[in-house]
Amino acid sequence: MANNENRGFTSNIGAILAAAGGAVGLGNIWRFPYMLGNNGGGAFLLVYVFFVLLIGIPLMMTEFIIGRRSQKNAIGAYRTLSPKHKGWMIIGIFNIIGATLIYAFYSVVAGWTLNYVVLACGNKLSGQSPEAVAQLFANFTQSSCWPLFFQLMFLIITAGVIALGVQKGIEKMSKILMPALFILLILMCVRSLTLGDGVREGMNFLFKPDFSKIDGSCLLSALGQSFFSLSIGMGAMVTYGSYIRKEDKLFNSSLWIAGCDSMVAILAGIVIFPAVFAFGMSPASGPELVYIVLPNVFNSMPGGAIFAIIFFLLLAIAALTSTISLLEILVATAVEELHWKRRTASIVGTVLVFTIGAFCTLSFGPLKDFHICGFTIFDLFDRLTASYLMPIGALAMTIFLGWFFPKAEVRDELSNGGSLKAKAFDIYYFILRYVAPIALIIILISGIIG
Ligand code: TRP
Repeated sequence: MANNENRGFTSNIGAILAAAGGAVGLGNIWRFPYMLGNNGGGAFLLVYVFFVLLIGIPLMMTEFIIGRRSQKNAIGAYRTLSPKHKGWMIIGIFNIIGATLIYAFYSVVAGWTLNYVVLACGNKLSGQSPEAVAQLFANFTQSSCWPLFFQLMFLIITAGVIALGVQKGIEKMSKILMPALFILLILMCVRSLTLGDGVREGMNFLFKPDFSKIDGSCLLSALGQSFFSLSIGMGAMVTYGSYIRKEDKLFNSSLWIAGCDSMVAILAGIVIFPAVFAFGMSPASGPELVYIVLPNVFNSMPGGAIFAIIFFLLLAIAALTSTISLLEILVATAVEELHWKRRTASIVGTVLVFTIGAFCTLSFGPLKDFHICGFTIFDLFDRLTASYLMPIGALAMTIFLGWFFPKAEVRDELSNGGSLKAKAFDIYYFILRYVAPIALIIILISGIIG
C-alpha cells in the first residue's frame, strides 16, 4: 500500500505532539473564547473542564484504542474490528462527512489568520483605535475575494504537507512549534493582566461562575466545545491512534494531550477577557471576538508590532497542524480503503472542501442574510458539527467499543498486551459503558429541547 512507509510516528513524544498539534488549534484560541463569551463566562468554563475530565479523556482513549488495535483509518477501523457486522462502518462514514464539514468552515478562520499575518507584517494593525480594528475585520470578511484567496492558500498548504507523508510533514512541524506558541501565550497573558482597567472584570467573567447560566444550551455548547477542541468523535484520533507505537501508553498520552489542550484554551481566555473589558468590547461578539480584541492587545505592548507577527504566524501554524489532522482523516481513508495515491487523495479532498467551504466564507459577505434555521451557513456548519455530529459520533463509538467489542481485547490494547498494569482500566470501562453514553444522550436531548 502506498502509505505503508508512512505508518507510524518515530517516537512517543512525536506521536503525542502531533496528536496534541491536531487538538490545539483555532478551537482553543478562536472558538473557546467566543463560545465562553456567548454562553455566560465562568459557568461555561466550569462545565467545559468537567466534560474534558469526565468524558473527553476517556473518549480520546477510546479513539486511540480503536485506531491502534485496527491499524486502520476512520472507516477501515470498524471494518477490521468487526468483520462480521459491517454495519459499524457507518460510524466511519458519518465521521468522514463530519470531518469534511468541519474542515470547510475551519479553513475559513484559518484563512483569516493568514490575512492577519500579512497585515501584521505590513504593520497595518499598529496604532489603530479599537473601532478601526473592528472595521478592518468587517471590511476584510465582507470583501469575499481576499477571504476566499486566503482560505484556498491555507487548503493548498495543508494538502502539500499531507502529500509529503506523516513523519516528514506532521511530526517535524509539531515538535518545534507547539512549545513556541505556548511560551508566546504566556507572555501575552502577562500583558493582558497588567492592562489595569478591565482586568478584574475580565478575570471575574472567566473564573467566577454564575450558576444560573447553566442550562441545556450551555451544557450542549460546552460539550460540543470540549469535543471540538480535543478533536473527538470524528475519527481524527482513530487515525492518529493507528500511528501510535504499540509500546506507548494510551492513557498517559491522552492525559498529556487533554492537559496541553485545556491549558492553551485557558491561557487564551486569560489573554482575551481582561482585554475585552479594558477596551470596552462585548464578550459576546461572536466569531470575530479574537480578531478584533487581540490587535488592541498588541497595540498596547512595547514591541507589539513584532509580537503580532509572531503570534499570528504561530496561530496559523497551530491551525495548520489541525487542518493537517482534518485532511489526514479523509486522505488515510481514501488511500487505504479506495487504494488512491496519497497525492490524488489530497487534491480531491482539497477541491471538495473548497467547494463547500467557499459558501462558508461567503456567508460573512454576500450570503450574510441567507439563513438556514436562523443560522448563516458558517454558523450552521459550526453548530451542527460540534453540538450534534461529534456527540452523536462519539455516542455510537462508545456503544461499539463498550457494548459490542470484547472487553478482554479492550483491556489488552490499553495495557499494551498486559505489559502495563492499567490500574484505571475498571474506571475507564465503567465510563465507556455507562457514564459517557448516558451523559451524551441526556445532554443531546436537553440541548435539543433548549
Ligand atoms: N481540535 C482542533 C482545534 O481545536 C480542531 C480539529 C482538528 C478537529 N481536527 C479535528 C475537530 C477533528 C474535530 C475533529 O482547533
